[in-house]
Amino acid sequence: DTVSILSGSPSEVWRYTANRLSGPEDTLTPLGDGYCGPVIRLRRGQRVRMRLENRLPEDTTVHWHGLHVPPDVDGQPRLPIGPGAAMTVAFNVVDRAGLYWYHPHPHGPDGGRVGFQSYAGLAGPLIIEDDTERALGLPAGDQEMILLLQDRSFAGDNELTYLDGGMGSMMTRMRGFLGDQVLVNGRPPETRDVGTRPYRLRILNGSNSRIYKLAWSDDRPVTVIGTGGGLLAAPEQRPFVTLAPAQRIDLWVDLSTTEPGKALRLVSDSYRGGMMGGMGGMMSDMALPAGARFDVLTLSVTRRERGGAPLPKRLADALQLPTVDQDTRVRRFELGVVMMRGFAINGRQFRGATVADDETVTLGDTEIWEFVNNTMMPHPMHVHGLQFAVIGRKQVGSRRGWSGLAAGLVDAGLHDTILVLPGEHLRIALTFTDFDGLYLYHCHNMEHEDNGMMRYYRVR
Ligand code: C2O
Ligand code: CU
Ligand code: CU
Repeated sequence: DTVSILSGSPSEVWRYTANRLSGPEDTLTPLGDGYCGPVIRLRRGQRVRMRLENRLPEDTTVHWHGLHVPPDVDGQPRLPIGPGAAMTVAFNVVDRAGLYWYHPHPHGPDGGRVGFQSYAGLAGPLIIEDDTERALGLPAGDQEMILLLQDRSFAGDNELTYLDGGMGSMMTRMRGFLGDQVLVNGRPPETRDVGTRPYRLRILNGSNSRIYKLAWSDDRPVTVIGTGGGLLAAPEQRPFVTLAPAQRIDLWVDLSTTEPGKALRLVSDSYRGGMMGGMGGMMSDMALPAGARFDVLTLSVTRRERGGAPLPKRLADALQLPTVDQDTRVRRFELGVVMMRGFAINGRQFRGATVADDETVTLGDTEIWEFVNNTMMPHPMHVHGLQFAVIGRKQVGSRRGWSGLAAGLVDAGLHDTILVLPGEHLRIALTFTDFDGLYLYHCHNMEHEDNGMMRYYRVR
């Protein structure tokens, strides 16, 4: 199957661009009618070929976030597609069934353009399906909802605005971009008519920096069935779910006992959001500061319906996590701020395809990576090319006003992006299989990533 991705041409840098794709119909479905890229649906085991055409006036790439693909088709900044140029990439779809996504990953001499280009609309969900998952009989069709959460700011004739220059944009670079309005699939949050049956909500946080605290309006617990790396071994419940940029969460909700006429709202609940830029902070004059409460989706029960299987007690019996012992090598990554210059990992900022000695790993090895966050901000840390398991989360220092998000963290299952709160030491186990070469690891707060909080690692 060949899928073409055209990056639309913005007339002005501050005007949004449309991302148009073409391909076999069962592979691509539009997501809303706004600026979002379409949903790409792939089957595990298939080989896919994508033709990427760049119609932007600047370099771009397309990165398949979360997918286990060879480095040369991973959409890394060292392999840009120039303006007017095209590239065809092909890979085997080997990952577990789940919700992944795609977005640009360019980084020039003046910094990254991931934040801007993703903001402008060059991102969308990518779903992998397989028979094992289908056999579970989870809600599908109209009972399966894909929700891409993003916050945006508008000016003039509904143009998207990003960084406006001056002090405000300095602040935005440090904290990460926060928009005035939340959009779901490119539109303001909406009400959907539903029946009295179970639903599956597959949610992608495609925001540049906003962290969501997802909860139900009637305070029922949130039932989690999957993470960024596919289904959990068994469902888990949380009072709310914390969803950081680039993370995905798979939720199951049963409306079979809800009376027609009633509505259930999915909200992003309030939290303090740190000492700066949060609810009580310096930027509280913002329309929607970090930690503001808002609706995400209203499910309005309009009809009585039978059907919908109960939630299976076991979801993924074959789920395999990397295993470690006392001899497993531990690599430590200290997350840091560089005054006036952005962010760093172990004191190093992004320097193109250069890799330090302690950033080289051995093909086939399993390692423990420990992220140490002594900054005042949370950092959603992402590793390219693989899915990892969280094996330890320790609070060592102060959470600096972000502790309200801790109860909603989902560490079970497989992940490619994990939130490290201030004061935390977080340990993941990861195995480097199949492909050698260069991959990236970075913070997925896009403004942090664009301002240096990204490095290559080498598999050898
Ligand atoms: Cu979402 Cu480097 O990626
Ligand atoms: Cu990625
Ligand atoms: Cu960060």
